[in-house]
Amino acid sequence: MLGNIISLLVLLALAVVFAWLTRRAWTSRRGLVKWFGAVLAGLLTVISAATLVLALVGFYKLGQRHPNPIPTIQVARTSAQVARGEQLAHICANCHASNSQLPLSGTDFVAKFGLPPIGTFYSPNLTPGGTIDDWSDGEVIRAIREGIHKDGRSLLIMPAENYRHLSDDDAQSIVAYLRSQPPTGGPTPPNSFNVLGALFINLVDWRTAQPPVRQVSAPPPGTPAYGKYMVNILGCQDCHGAQLQGKLETGQPGPPPGPNLTQIVPQWTEDQFMTFFNTGKLPGGGTVPLLTLPNGSTGPRMPWTEVRASTTDDELKAMYTYLHSLPPIEGPAQ
Ligand code: HEC
Ligand code: HEC
Repeated sequence: MLGNIISLLVLLALAVVFAWLTRRAWTSRRGLVKWFGAVLAGLLTVISAATLVLALVGFYKLGQRHPNPIPTIQVARTSAQVARGEQLAHICANCHASNSQLPLSGTDFVAKFGLPPIGTFYSPNLTPGGTIDDWSDGEVIRAIREGIHKDGRSLLIMPAENYRHLSDDDAQSIVAYLRSQPPTGGPTPPNSFNVLGALFINLVDWRTAQPPVRQVSAPPPGTPAYGKYMVNILGCQDCHGAQLQGKLETGQPGPPPGPNLTQIVPQWTEDQFMTFFNTGKLPGGGTVPLLTLPNGSTGPRMPWTEVRASTTDDELKAMYTYLHSLPPIEGPAQ
């Protein structure tokens, strides 16, 4: 906080000094000094003033509050809920654990994914030893489905646009599981962005806050609609495009772009689909290549192990039925 205020004051001081130098140069009688000096100092004035303004806009964005109501619910924590929640929690492990495995004890997100030095940024420890122990069940459900911190600010990066589709039952199951994990490690440090982070948030907007989520129930199990439900909460769209039509490399930091599922899965049999998720083997031979993260951990480029761990056989089959029925779309697109 103090560091950020000092950095902003330094930017302000630079802008003032450069503006003063511009004026000095402009009033000089020597032609070279006048033109060269004024242009150079003028440019530096504009750059430092623009940086200051963008940083202020960034801090404003990061501090914005969302008045979404907090659900008033006390999760029962039945053993069925805990088991279902543990299954679904595998979706969270890539981000909320340094080795991408349960328990969700949190990790230094900047180090794990090699982000620029934007400040202190952890995916918090979600076990009872961590940061959400004094949050109400409703606050945790709001964080998951609406991407909002207990204090009302937007969480960053949390894929709440996927989780807003989670049914009330599934969201409660996740909370039941989080509360019943063994406490692992202590609270991760509170997140705070520095000036670089504030500038960065103008380039890549990672805020995830969603409009309030009302009651959600899952479609009947085994139907294509249920398959679509799982596809939505697992976030296949994040990498395979909004319409699953495939994505191209954008050069921006983010997950690896995946190919066009609307053209690929309709050509697969259910067996081939199940084999892919059980073993990572593609029907034409070959397996999914590995991705090495900056923190040294490796995982498949297509996170099939994570998808497999967070679904039952019946759910995977419903996902197949849904994807198999999609009309082919031209792709990939940006
Ligand atoms: C793509 C990465 C990613 C995934 C997947 C993800 N999270 Fe997060 N989550 C984060 C990050 C990063 C933060 C911290 C955001 C911040 O402080 O702005 C966070 C914050 C949270 C918080 C708020 C905790 C706190 O103390 O501030 C909760 C609760 C949470 N996540 C639950 C979950 C659950 C449950 C899942 C799985 C269903 C999940 N997350 C999946 C990245 C992720
Ligand atoms: C983190 C990004 C990411 C997510 C999330 C993701 N995929 Fe993928 N997927 C990929 C990438 C990248 C590939 C290509 C892998 C490679 O490099 O060969 C791929 C490949 C595939 C393939 C094989 C296609 C082929 O012929 O190569 C299928 C099928 C598939 N994904 C289905 C899914 C489904 C279903 C989901 C959601 C449950 C999903 N993916 C979620 C990134 C992702």
